[in-house]
Amino acid sequence: MSTAARTGTAAEPAIQVTDLVKTYGEVSALKGISFEVARGEVLGLLGPNGSGKTTTVTLLSTLQRPTSGSARICGNDVVARAGRVRELVSLTGQYAALDEGLTTVENLSVFGRLTGLRGRALHTRIDELVEQFDLGTARDRRVGALSGGMQRRVDIASALVTRPEVLFLDEPTTGLDPRSRAAVWDTVAALRGDGITVLLTTQYLEEADRLADHIVMLNQGSVVAAGTPGRLKQQVGAAVCEVTLVERDVTAAVLGLLADLELVEAPTDGTASGSQAHPRLVVRAPNGMSTVSEVITRLEKASIDVVDIGLRQPSLDEVFLQLTESPR
Ligand SMILES: Nc1ncnc2c1ncn2[C@@H]1O[C@H](COP(=O)(O)OP(=O)(O)OP(=O)(O)O)[C@@H](O)[C@H]1O
Ligand SMILES: [Mg+2]
Repeated sequence: MSTAARTGTAAEPAIQVTDLVKTYGEVSALKGISFEVARGEVLGLLGPNGSGKTTTVTLLSTLQRPTSGSARICGNDVVARAGRVRELVSLTGQYAALDEGLTTVENLSVFGRLTGLRGRALHTRIDELVEQFDLGTARDRRVGALSGGMQRRVDIASALVTRPEVLFLDEPTTGLDPRSRAAVWDTVAALRGDGITVLLTTQYLEEADRLADHIVMLNQGSVVAAGTPGRLKQQVGAAVCEVTLVERDVTAAVLGLLADLELVEAPTDGTASGSQAHPRLVVRAPNGMSTVSEVITRLEKASIDVVDIGLRQPSLDEVFLQLTESPR
């Protein structure tokens, strides 16, 4: 059967989510989210702990049913056509689903057999994956003895034994060191090159920025922002000016001097972290260096001493803070 016949018309988006709601008793894990992913794109689903990322992935991969709303994979409803959806998707969960007592090849064989691959076809596919994921040295080693980064690669490879149309990767790099994280990033880039649609969840803005064509940001079960990484950064990414003062007793005066600039972080309480701590405050710097030099000029005129002053990009925490204060 041709790919087109197997997956519905190519015009249908790979993933279409409409007003999706999931409640667990009193808990509203998803409060009616909507988004779309075009075929062959990488979507970064970003959000803090408990924002509903894993819930979204489990609904889209038919592991659970939505409370209301709908979702389609290549035009197939995840409830009405759950069987077809299972043929189209593959999932690498937040916690690896490998058998640690088996070798890499044995694990890949298990996944292959589960999806009906046998004999020469199975062996050929495993050889391809070992090559693609650079797992030569891990081939005949027990997965439990591999490093976390290697295990992640075996885990992702196992989700690809039969080539899915849509791959869900739930926090594929959480807990990995920078080198292993980079290897997973290369893997995702390669999948994209192969035309596989990828939905990747992450808590790291940088990761979504690197890998994703589009980003959907969740907070407490709702979409708080969506768009290309560039657009989101414009929306949330204005640089900030961080000022560390010498004296505590001038903070009120400084707040007055900078009253026209949006306060991102109120002066920290120096006494809370010891009498030596210098108060620090952060304001938005819409004009970058010009804002910083304006701040310096005003403080100099008022004879207010600083320990440190500088321009920096907002942290992820600040991004979330801003987005949850002013949704969309
Ligand atoms: N089976 C369940 N029963 C009850 N509540 C649940 C269940 N699964 C998830 N929740 C709740 O739904 C909300 C969303 O959880 P979810 O696991 O989707 O978040 P997440 O974004 O994946 O978080 P994390 O970054 O910690 O993995 C949380 O409040 C969670 O406690
Ligand atoms: Mg999760």
